[in-house]
Amino acid sequence: MKAKILILAAAILIVVSCGTKKAAPATPTTPAVTETSKIIELTPELAEGKNLYENSCARCHKLYDPKKFSQEEWKPILTRMQKKAKLDDSQIASISNYITSQL
Ligand code: HEC
Repeated sequence: MKAKILILAAAILIVVSCGTKKAAPATPTTPAVTETSKIIELTPELAEGKNLYENSCARCHKLYDPKKFSQEEWKPILTRMQKKAKLDDSQIASISNYITSQL
């Protein structure tokens, strides 16, 4: 029983120490949004939207800067592009949230 606890403690220690090591070099990397001076912290949901956007929306053309269009302009564009990119409603909603967060 004691040995099990020791192994568990060691495992947690390894995970924790790896975790902190990984977190350290993250600071000097350039922020995701290069054109703005403000650095927007992405929530996991927004990060997923960004990921989807970058992976599904650059197949046919370059990625458009979210700031290129207003929220009202993005709506019909995203409806059009949803069909082109064959994305489901939740995926396009996720992309839409990401774009809105960058406006
Ligand atoms: C299958 C190819 C294809 C995919 C995938 C695609 N697009 Fe497009 N996109 C086009 C074409 C073709 C045009 C130009 C014709 C048009 O506007 O419908 C375009 C135009 C655009 C424009 C310019 C619209 C305007 O009014 O100037 C934006 C913005 C855009 N796409 C965003 C996206 C986003 C966001 C996604 C991902 C959800 C996406 N596209 C995925 C083919 C694609």
